[in-house]
Amino acid sequence: MSRKALIAANWKMYKTPAEAKAFVEAFLPLVANHSRDEIALFPSVTSLATVVAAAAGSTIRVGLQNMHFADEGAYTGETSPLMLRAVGATHTLIGHSERRQYFAETDEVVNKKLHSALRHGILPVVCIGESLAEREAGETARVLKTQIHHGFAGITVEQAATIVIAYEPVWAIGTGKTATPEMAVDAHRIVRAEIAAILGAAVASHMRILYGGSVKPENASSLLNEEEIDGALVGGASLIPSSFAAIVHY
Ligand code: PGA
Repeated sequence: MSRKALIAANWKMYKTPAEAKAFVEAFLPLVANHSRDEIALFPSVTSLATVVAAAAGSTIRVGLQNMHFADEGAYTGETSPLMLRAVGATHTLIGHSERRQYFAETDEVVNKKLHSALRHGILPVVCIGESLAEREAGETARVLKTQIHHGFAGITVEQAATIVIAYEPVWAIGTGKTATPEMAVDAHRIVRAEIAAILGAAVASHMRILYGGSVKPENASSLLNEEEIDGALVGGASLIPSSFAAIVHY
């Protein structure tokens, strides 16, 4: 089963619109004619429209790092799927571990956001992963299965076709500690088996599962050449055009 890899940049709370525009202008020539993989940028909400405009005419896709599930309403500080679509963005991250950790996002909220994104034709990248304590306690498989089970509640086989999962062990995010390819592959197999159990083998074999957590130019090829690893969600190393381009060219 060959799945087209998705290489995604999660800029977190970095870059003003001017900095985001400068990134895209420097980055585009570095990935011109690169068709092997899909590329997506997830800037902060204030740079979303700027990045969409700067990437227009390229194959690069743009998304939000977080999206509310409601179409509109009294939710101060939030961004709705309609707003995302209105500026020409197409993707959203859902349930990033920093959202879970600092903004109390639960699997139930992840599930609502997932349903909302699919209803609006937005491509969701659902983030899951275990903490260091959970890994050391031998709980990795249980945690991943629980996150998938609750996060995917009520999702149909048809809906599942566009969903992307990002496996991001929390202990590897922003720490410089990367999961070895073997650790990542083991976790991806658990995730794929759980998707197969819930949605069937065909859905599972088509679903893209990205790895995230301290992906850098130096370790990208050893991770991304694994057949089980269908792309990367990159934080720190995605902030510099040459560094992110080197990962795209793994
Ligand atoms: P990192 O972040 O590459 O800086 O570890 C990855 C992420 O949080 O998506």
